[in-house]
Amino acid sequence: MASIESMTASPPASSALSSLAAIPSLDPRAPVGIFDSGLGGLSVLRAVRAQLPSEAIIYVADSLYAPYGERDDDFIADRTLAIGEWLVAQGAKALVVACNTATAQSIALVREKLPIQLIGVEPGVKPAALQSRSRVAGVLATQVTLRSARFQALLERHAADCRFLCQPGHGLVQAVERCDIGSAELRALLESYIQPMLDAGADTLVLGCTHYPFLDAAIRDIAGDRLALIDTSIAIARQLERVLDQQGLRPPERDAAQPRFCSTSDGAHLRQLAATLLQIDAPVERVHIPSRRTAATDSHAA
Ligand code: DGL
Repeated sequence: MASIESMTASPPASSALSSLAAIPSLDPRAPVGIFDSGLGGLSVLRAVRAQLPSEAIIYVADSLYAPYGERDDDFIADRTLAIGEWLVAQGAKALVVACNTATAQSIALVREKLPIQLIGVEPGVKPAALQSRSRVAGVLATQVTLRSARFQALLERHAADCRFLCQPGHGLVQAVERCDIGSAELRALLESYIQPMLDAGADTLVLGCTHYPFLDAAIRDIAGDRLALIDTSIAIARQLERVLDQQGLRPPERDAAQPRFCSTSDGAHLRQLAATLLQIDAPVERVHIPSRRTAATDSHAA
């Protein structure tokens, strides 16, 4: 799979910087928080573990409320902030928002409010523009990501001489959430998205949602080697490394424990996907993370 250089980490806003300075207890041995609407962030966790094997990790899957790509902007910001605050309370020293949709809609707002560094993700439009030979590239992402101002600005920056075919991946997040990464139905759905890109001459496909790297084998079956797949997870892990280095927050070399897996749902699929695709067999804690928008439904959901 081709790799990448696009991610959205940037220094925290000045208000967050002063909060950061006000927290004397940030400890290099503290865990990194990684969060996604569901299981997709595991593709980022995989890259972080490979790049930074000494880091302890807390992973939160907000599976009770996935997919975010079907939610309104305020809901996504509400959940991202609540989960970020929860991870800070658990002692996280940095937060990877391993969700393109949450990054697109809410990272600026959440960065203002949390006292730790945030690293976001965004579709790899820049590396696609750099490497496409045919100058036609596909982008698969959620509807929310594609319509966001942040993504539109990204396209404008890089689409001058490259044509981007943007396709919402309706149904793909739901498939991965139920651990379907290769059924006949899923393959047919993927083909309906990818074949038109191939017909239009695309030679590159941006996986603009962290769930989609788990579909790489199914995509390969459809496209063979006609599409270079752009996945930003390795670039995100490198950016996390840079941020932790700058902050003096790298732990001593050690064998980190298994990640602490948390889910707002029952966690069965998180455990299954982590075991089968990442070879991590670890229990999943069910956690209750209330937020303003979910308060009304929490009594039924918890
Ligand atoms: N993994 C999320 C992303 O990267 C999926 C969003 C969703 O839940 O729809 O966008």
